[in-house]
Amino acid sequence: MDVTYDFSAKNFIVIGASSGMGRQVAEELAGAGARVLAVARREELLRQMQEKYPTQISTAIVDVTVAGELEPVLTEFVAEFGKLHGAVYTAGVEGLTPLRAFSEETARTIMETSFWGAVKVMQLVNQRRFSVDGCSNVLFSSISAYTGASSMFAYSAAKAAVQAAVRSIAKEICRSGKRINTVSPGWVSTEMTHRAAQEAAEDMIGIVEERCLLGLGKPADVSGFVLFLLSERARWITGKDFIVDGGYLWGDG
Ligand SMILES: NC(=O)c1ccc[n+]([C@@H]2O[C@H](COP(=O)([O-])OP(=O)(O)OC[C@H]3O[C@@H](n4cnc5c(N)ncnc54)[C@H](OP(=O)(O)O)[C@@H]3O)[C@@H](O)[C@H]2O)c1
Repeated sequence: MDVTYDFSAKNFIVIGASSGMGRQVAEELAGAGARVLAVARREELLRQMQEKYPTQISTAIVDVTVAGELEPVLTEFVAEFGKLHGAVYTAGVEGLTPLRAFSEETARTIMETSFWGAVKVMQLVNQRRFSVDGCSNVLFSSISAYTGASSMFAYSAAKAAVQAAVRSIAKEICRSGKRINTVSPGWVSTEMTHRAAQEAAEDMIGIVEERCLLGLGKPADVSGFVLFLLSERARWITGKDFIVDGGYLWGDG
């Protein structure tokens, strides 16, 4: 029998919900009855989601690198629907930062989006006025935190920093039964991967597919684990990273 979840009467925020894995998670949560606040910068993509799930999905245009944009939106959502039962942070940007010639601006944007954005959202969401005791937080890290992706020190460092921060934050928020974990996907076919493949010199997707025991992933290959972490069935799990990579780390090409 397949695994299904019932998230009716529960509220979630998904940051980075306009595409890829964030969108998949937001739509699956809505499909499982949750009320979802879907957040990102691209209005048109968010509007399409809202039209697909008009009673379940609310949307907000927020740039996580701009201070103060999320709080009024969250205040309004919680006033209308109640406190959050979980938060998923998938916002991230890729970019090459070879040590010999990297743009500091690119490196800072990667860090601001994947690391500082995540920390600031966690600080806000885990306030008592915004989330229930037992709230579950899931942040997106990456296998790059383990492999150190070539010419991507900023991305790899940001994703490793998220994991380390989560281990620390878990100790603070456990007092109210709140949990926080990271998921580290392997190579998943999304807008981000397609952009990265265009930048790469060689046939990156071909190399990845060869190394990935179960092939290139789809967003739905990762979202199931995220829903599990958000659910009550994961209530004893916190401060951990979970690799969901189709066997990439053990594939030797
Ligand atoms: N795809 C992979 O193979 C892979 C592997 C390991 C880890 N990851 C990580 O998984 C997460 C999701 O990636 P994905 O592959 O699903 O990529 P994606 O389709 O490019 O999605 C990234 C999301 O982040 C949002 N975002 C980016 N910058 C933002 C900002 N400043 N403010 C608000 N939202 C922002 C984007 O929305 P807007 O552009 O509309 O703002 C988009 O919804 C990322 O953290 C990524 O690093 C991906």
